[in-house]
Amino acid sequence: MTRLLEPRAIGMPLERLDGHAKVTGTAPYAFEHALRDPLYLYPLEAAIARGRMTAIDTAEAEALAGVVAVMTPRNAPRLAADDDQELWLLQSEGIHFRGQLVGAVIAQTPEIARHAAALVRIAYEAEPHDAALAADRDDLYKPEQVNPDYAADTDEGDVEAALAAADVAIDATYTTPMEHNNPMEPHTTVAIWEGGVLTLYDSTQGAHSVRTTLAPVFGLAPDKIRIIAPYVGGGFGSKGTAHAHDVLAGLAAQMVPGRPVKFALTRQQMFWLAGYRTPTIQRIRLGAGRDGRLTAIVHEVIEQTARFKEFAEQTATSTRIMYASPNRRTSHRLAKLDVPVPSWMRAPGETPGMFAGEVAMDELAVACGLDPIALRIRNDPAADPQSGKPWSGRKLVECLREGARRFGWDRRAPNPAARREDGWLVGMGVASSTYPAYALPGSRATIRYGEDQRYVVRIGAADIGTGTWTALTQIAADALGCPIEAVRLEIGDSALPHASVEGGSSGINCWGSAIVAAARAFRGQHGAAPVPGAEIGAEMPEDPEAQRFAMHSFGAQFAEVRVNADTGEIRVPRMLGVFSAGRIINPRTARSQFIGGMTMGLSMALHEESVLDPRFGHVVNHDLASYHIAAHADIGDIDAVWLDEVDPHSNPMGSRGIGEIGIVGAAAAIANAAWHATGIRIRDLPITPDKLLA
Ligand code: MOS
Repeated sequence: MTRLLEPRAIGMPLERLDGHAKVTGTAPYAFEHALRDPLYLYPLEAAIARGRMTAIDTAEAEALAGVVAVMTPRNAPRLAADDDQELWLLQSEGIHFRGQLVGAVIAQTPEIARHAAALVRIAYEAEPHDAALAADRDDLYKPEQVNPDYAADTDEGDVEAALAAADVAIDATYTTPMEHNNPMEPHTTVAIWEGGVLTLYDSTQGAHSVRTTLAPVFGLAPDKIRIIAPYVGGGFGSKGTAHAHDVLAGLAAQMVPGRPVKFALTRQQMFWLAGYRTPTIQRIRLGAGRDGRLTAIVHEVIEQTARFKEFAEQTATSTRIMYASPNRRTSHRLAKLDVPVPSWMRAPGETPGMFAGEVAMDELAVACGLDPIALRIRNDPAADPQSGKPWSGRKLVECLREGARRFGWDRRAPNPAARREDGWLVGMGVASSTYPAYALPGSRATIRYGEDQRYVVRIGAADIGTGTWTALTQIAADALGCPIEAVRLEIGDSALPHASVEGGSSGINCWGSAIVAAARAFRGQHGAAPVPGAEIGAEMPEDPEAQRFAMHSFGAQFAEVRVNADTGEIRVPRMLGVFSAGRIINPRTARSQFIGGMTMGLSMALHEESVLDPRFGHVVNHDLASYHIAAHADIGDIDAVWLDEVDPHSNPMGSRGIGEIGIVGAAAAIANAAWHATGIRIRDLPITPDKLLA
């Protein structure tokens, strides 16, 4: 049995401890650390999608006053390990995608660097490239696994027989476009090479994971590379892993030892150098009895990866645990394209997968003549359908019922296109959310009692704007049984004890568990009245219950949609999310996470679409003027609430993760509400007015 903390500071809506520093501009983001004599880097980027460089003329750039060095594959320092082709930079003349980093100018000012980069002439030998995803490609392949380590395919029972025998069947294809993460702070690295040590001030979700990834690439022992990231302006997964720009900055720093090299991607460059969500083509088939009880679920996914590096998103994994059915099949097939490699974007897999799955459930409800909430409740599985394990706490039904009550679901018209107000068609939609409770191994915390009678709690965790500084301080205070003011937290540095990445909504689970373990060890060793200097460290213990229970969070998303009958303009005046995510550490920062996720889901539903021109292998709408993200004017009355609960099996805090579940299902709820408003079923995101004028 997990020994739960007595919550005192936990559960309090504490304001962000870093809030004052942030709004007064004294919290340094990666580019802003005050460093002596910095130089500035502007990258050289490939202008073709596939082939090789045949000539590089740097003479004019090098002659420009203020240019310190021009780095190309001809003169770049050598790297040590080529396992990750995304990071194997400037070691050959080969081009894998348009925009690939092929060199850099290092100069006295950012303006000189950028101007000089435009003066470098590169000649290419282009090869035919292929950048168009399609369902009928004959080269789709099955990856060995999908992220992080799920089977690519599952097949239980006999879906074909069950579909053939089903009273009611749904067979539809759903698509989601390529999307880009677009955090407020662009991906940024400031690199210094000094005395055989590489230091990176990096905008990252994981100081240690960047170190672990980059050390072998540069051929450095882990203690010869240090990553510093105390404040990060968002990431949504794109900063969950080192990208090529980190390597470019590190290489450049080696060319100018002792000088800091500052490199921030432009907003435009983030559309090819920082990862993205793969587009998906998803066929879903459902079979059910007249009563709506599922007899067959099939979810077949087609998505893309880069030819030079595989990224296999887990789009269908949520379908494996969502609903009960004796016959179930899921599969993932990939196309290898000459494009940048996809990466993590908030709830990778669940987000596009649950769009398709939850719109399909809405279609099944219509086909069965059932209320969509009743359909979901009827198919709620008592145990994890995949593993057979009991849930640590599956409260989807409670979320649906609580949401229905709060949202006024009983006022929903039984038929679509039934309500019209001043020329606007009005509808309501619902969808389920889910996200796994991941536990990544290896986090460690130390606690030291200082002369100032405060506890210094050290762990290399990340705060990417989520509230980690505050939430971990609350956990430490409760674990030590001391006031919040008696805790001094240190995070965001690979020189601190090892921490797992801020990814998969696992941060608080892993780091909090390590802090609790350290606090309990500290109290055991040093008691309640320690002497200054008393110190102890401990690792996050392995949770034996993790093997016995299926741990997932759940939620219910509700949306009201208004569609202008003449113009197709679509508005979302109301959204409500009800979540079951275990104990909430800090209601204020948690609410912000949930609402942020839902907002991103609305943005996905109505706006976000990276348009890749296959002729060039290039995202044409690579700026925030043409890649639309929900703004304040798009958001009406949006609210998130949660069940008052404790997960007794997840960790000593009783919490599960909350960073990602808010986006899951949100786009489906809006699409389902748009159907209810208009009678038009949108299966392809984003939902734009033209699609509603059919
Ligand atoms: Mo999140 S996309 O796992 O950083």
